[in-house]
Amino acid sequence: MTQSVAIITGASSGMGKAAAELFAQKGWQVFGGARHVDAIPQQTNIHGYRLDVTDQDSVTAFMTAVMQETKRVDVLINVVGYGEYGPVEEVDVAAVETEFQTNYFGAVRMVQAVLPTMRQQEAGRIVTVSSGVGNVYMPTGSYYSASKAALQIWSDTLNLEVQPFGIQATVVMPGATKTNFLPKMAASFKRHTNPGSAYQPLMAGVQKMTAGYQANATAADLAVLFYRAATDNKPKLRYFNTISDRISVYVARNHPNLWHRLMTRNTARMMNAK
Ligand SMILES: NC(=O)c1ccc[n+]([C@@H]2O[C@H](COP(=O)([O-])OP(=O)(O)OC[C@H]3O[C@@H](n4cnc5c(N)ncnc54)[C@H](OP(=O)(O)O)[C@@H]3O)[C@@H](O)[C@H]2O)c1
Repeated sequence: MTQSVAIITGASSGMGKAAAELFAQKGWQVFGGARHVDAIPQQTNIHGYRLDVTDQDSVTAFMTAVMQETKRVDVLINVVGYGEYGPVEEVDVAAVETEFQTNYFGAVRMVQAVLPTMRQQEAGRIVTVSSGVGNVYMPTGSYYSASKAALQIWSDTLNLEVQPFGIQATVVMPGATKTNFLPKMAASFKRHTNPGSAYQPLMAGVQKMTAGYQANATAADLAVLFYRAATDNKPKLRYFNTISDRISVYVARNHPNLWHRLMTRNTARMMNAK
């Protein structure tokens, strides 16, 4: 039997790394990409290649290397992403552009690179990692939330276009998960906390709240969810890890005024937190 083939971006850390290990353990051939190629697990069934999703030449070189090893791609999992947190008024546009080049355009480049092969084989699955905060927004998270919201509508539209070729696109919606994401988010707060800023009380309040986050989910939990999204016979448009992740997104989407009132109250509480 031929081995199924998965391309997994962000395979050097967190969810992408855990997914590479899980798919490999299930007997898939995994092609993992990341900038820190040495951190991609080196084990049977995992082939690690350097990949910077913000760079079209890097994506092209990655795909060329993969296609020299295999003639098919069953699944692409777009995992790469990070969050720039800060007030709308004060985050450098250049930082926002890099975030979108990574989180959104990175997925676009990868999908454009795999679709010719998937269309030719008349089968394929594209799993894109968005986030609950693509719907469940909070102050200082505007740019990260916008990049993750963009992925959702983009993936749904993509699904309409590629279904006739036997390809399905689906979205995974993680909530807070123990990976390097949260420390990187904390570092971005520091980058965007300007001395003398009118948003100092807000930034301090949000940082205090997020510093107390206890993420219960693990990268391994999310890897299991990616595997379901990649292999379900009838894939859903959205996959959630926990019921509370699902409920909060449901409320924010279906009751936008209620959600906004809750967040307005939370924002005031955070700004007054001693
Ligand atoms: N953890 C959470 O609480 C949480 C919640 C909701 C959604 N998410 C989303 O889940 C996904 C996985 O994040 P994680 O939690 O596993 O974070 P992570 O541990 O920080 O992993 C991020 C991965 O992205 C890769 N990456 C970053 N920029 C890249 C680039 N330009 N080109 C190629 N690879 C790049 C990193 O590898 P290199 O640095 O080696 O390139 C790393 O492998 C992200 O899309 C994130 O937005 C996370």
